[in-house]
Amino acid sequence: MSSRNTFETEDRYMAPFFIKQKIAIDRGEGVYVWDEEGVRYLDFTAGWGVTCMGHAHPVITEALARQSRKILQGPNSGLTYSPARAELLLELMQVLPPNLTRVFFSNSGAEANDAAIKLARKVTGRLDVISTHQSFHGRTISTTSATGQASHREIFNPLMPNYRFVAYGDLAELEQALDDNVAAFIIEPIQGEGGVHIPSREYLRSASRLCRQNGALLIADEVQTGFCRTGPMFVTGAMGVEVDFLTMAKGIAGGFPFGGFAMTEAVAQKLEIGDHGGTYCGNPLGCAVSAAVIRYLRENNISAHVEEMGRICLDTMAGWKDAYPAAIREIRGQGLLIMVEFADADTAKRVSDDCLARGLFVRQTQGVGIRVFPALTITEAELREGLGIMAEAIRAVAG
Ligand SMILES: Cc1ncc(COP(=O)(O)O)c(C=O)c1O
Repeated sequence: MSSRNTFETEDRYMAPFFIKQKIAIDRGEGVYVWDEEGVRYLDFTAGWGVTCMGHAHPVITEALARQSRKILQGPNSGLTYSPARAELLLELMQVLPPNLTRVFFSNSGAEANDAAIKLARKVTGRLDVISTHQSFHGRTISTTSATGQASHREIFNPLMPNYRFVAYGDLAELEQALDDNVAAFIIEPIQGEGGVHIPSREYLRSASRLCRQNGALLIADEVQTGFCRTGPMFVTGAMGVEVDFLTMAKGIAGGFPFGGFAMTEAVAQKLEIGDHGGTYCGNPLGCAVSAAVIRYLRENNISAHVEEMGRICLDTMAGWKDAYPAAIREIRGQGLLIMVEFADADTAKRVSDDCLARGLFVRQTQGVGIRVFPALTITEAELREGLGIMAEAIRAVAG
């Protein structure tokens, strides 16, 4: 197919949910992708924080090929055992916070959050869910209900009942909201989609303590932050924040659609056969890829690399803010999850479009910003190449 045919076919038959970029991506390698016409682009989005090892990494393609020659889906699905699943569980036990000793798998982040919320209600016998303003937890009806952004929620009103919101980072508000009806407080340890907001370590630790005192469960949504995106394997683990559920997806399998949630032994003991399930619940193919990804991240100390690349980003971007104080309002981030917030949405859009015209994919976020979240394996030279393109785009728009 030519790009034109691809555009026409998708525009004709896809449901109309996206304003599309008129580029048909045909293949990728590392941090680069190529369109159908052979034009090369640098990817600073990692498919929205997913392709943590870049595109077509041989460790991933080999794990996929090896497992696909053996078996994709077990007979009777989760009712049979799988060596690939067992291998992944052992990998996860090396990287999860030590109090999270039981795991179940999903196909996406939304499904993992959905299950954690559902199971928190079962475990506590309570109904209410507290979430935070500006959060993003997914697009199922219950995770949409838990998402603290009006633009994602209000068109679907009435949503699920018993969901309430508190300001992100505001301990007093949380304390007031926690009453005898609260089953769970769900929080991203760093808000991603909401514009990369980083709370204090003290806030997360105190939130954990307050939940415990109240008998509510704490669900850490690490769908975007997990698997070294911000440096450490998990933000909550690194900060010593005790949680009852930790949800995972995106980087967990480097591009293969996969997810999961981990829980404490105490939570698991209150769950019973039949409380949850799913046709794919840890299918061998996803498990094999995920185990390979986690092993690679761990053995290659990607965590330290991300911290170093993140520092280079923030140092370079600080120069942009000095050079264009009227156009750039703030730069914030941790590891390779960074937001450049502009003075207005028009500037962000023009910079984003200019980046693409110069061969760089970035993600406009919350209108006013550009989120930078490339593959975690990006080299310093590749990172500087992309930052150079961003700097040129900012100069063209705001200079
Ligand atoms: C923090 C967070 N939670 C949940 C989700 C939903 O994950 P998925 O798109 O895999 O359902 C996302 C997706 O961006 C996310 O960033």
